[in-house]
Amino acid sequence: MKVSGSLSVPGDKSISHRALILGALGNGASRVTGILQSADVTSTAGVLRALGADVPALSNEMVVRGAGPHTLRQPELALACGNSGTTTRLMAGVVAALPITATFCGDASLSRRPMRRIARPLEAMGARVDLPPHGGLPMTIRGGSLHDITWESQVASAQVKSAILLAALVSGARASVVEPARSRDHTERMLAARGANLHVDGTVVSIEARSRIGSMDVDVPGDPSSAAFFAGLAALAESGTLRLGHVCVNETRIGFLQQLRRMGARVVEESRRVEGGEWVADLVVSPGDLKGVVVGAADVPSMVDELPLLACLAARADGETIITGAGELRVKESDRIAAVVANLRAIGADADELPDGMHIRGSSRPLRGRVTTYGDHRLAMAFGVLGAAIHNAIEIDDRDCVAVSYPEFWRDLAAATGQ
Ligand code: S3P
Repeated sequence: MKVSGSLSVPGDKSISHRALILGALGNGASRVTGILQSADVTSTAGVLRALGADVPALSNEMVVRGAGPHTLRQPELALACGNSGTTTRLMAGVVAALPITATFCGDASLSRRPMRRIARPLEAMGARVDLPPHGGLPMTIRGGSLHDITWESQVASAQVKSAILLAALVSGARASVVEPARSRDHTERMLAARGANLHVDGTVVSIEARSRIGSMDVDVPGDPSSAAFFAGLAALAESGTLRLGHVCVNETRIGFLQQLRRMGARVVEESRRVEGGEWVADLVVSPGDLKGVVVGAADVPSMVDELPLLACLAARADGETIITGAGELRVKESDRIAAVVANLRAIGADADELPDGMHIRGSSRPLRGRVTTYGDHRLAMAFGVLGAAIHNAIEIDDRDCVAVSYPEFWRDLAAATGQ
């Protein structure tokens, strides 16, 4: 397989959710360009509208008109979050601080995902959160005025951190969130850029009482988690170069690119610049003789969504890859440890589950067979990339689930490989 050309991957999913939410909570009109038009972001727009916010249909250039959080009102129906954990957890923080009662629901995958991690801090702030015994959805939140909080999160999770920061912003309370390791920091950056009184000290983020935010235009940079699939594709290719324009290279998001370099691929950042408070660059990626790598707990937060892809690349690399400290993968859109290992085995690769990771022994033999995605977009794309490598033939059971984060993925994959 040869790669060529240049590609602009769609807008960053995390920044897109936050552009809508902060646009609706601020005062005034915020123009958003390059938003990710995918199922997950559509869920956030729908939840905001159900609460009475003025959010138009997603388009490449759209305006969100915020009138302050206290214009949001009691929804008539349950808040439908689809497959989106970010929608659920961030909007739970907003709802917890409003004098309303709302029920969050979602698809089968989202309904299984753990919500106690946000229910506990939001209850400690004074909201009432009812969860089913398994701790997932449907979740009903009765919001109101909230207390100040210092919360030590057991997991490095930007969704947990953001739920608490948004609850504090909307209620006017003060909050400090202490994380075991730094998770992605888009909420902090975007709140501070809009005028919130926010401090970051290592892994502690604090928002002062009575913080307010104004409106702000956002040009959403390309999603590094989507770019990762094409960087991985270029790394696996036999020849060629792929250029990925205007990708967010925020340091809390680039762990995969660093591992790809360690594996032996050539990854060059060009025209590194700051745009709208985020580091952005053009990435130029070319193949290498890939070697296995060892990934530990400290590496995980900056590449948590890219680990299924790393595991797929590892199946074609020389030597062993060991991933540990990644227990969070078991509570993503699928159990990504069990699902990735079962699928690697189904196509003839040598992989084992670890309690908190995976052990993969790479080889150059052809990998062939059918992959079960469990509706998980990142599994479909990771195995789609592996299937494009020479001599491999991999069938994906549900190609359409890429709509969650990258609706045009298959078109872009075909273009990058000249098909
Ligand atoms: C996200 C945070 C991460 C990530 C998810 C998006 C966000 O989840 O896996 O795809 O936008 O805040 P956790 O907060 O659970 O780590």
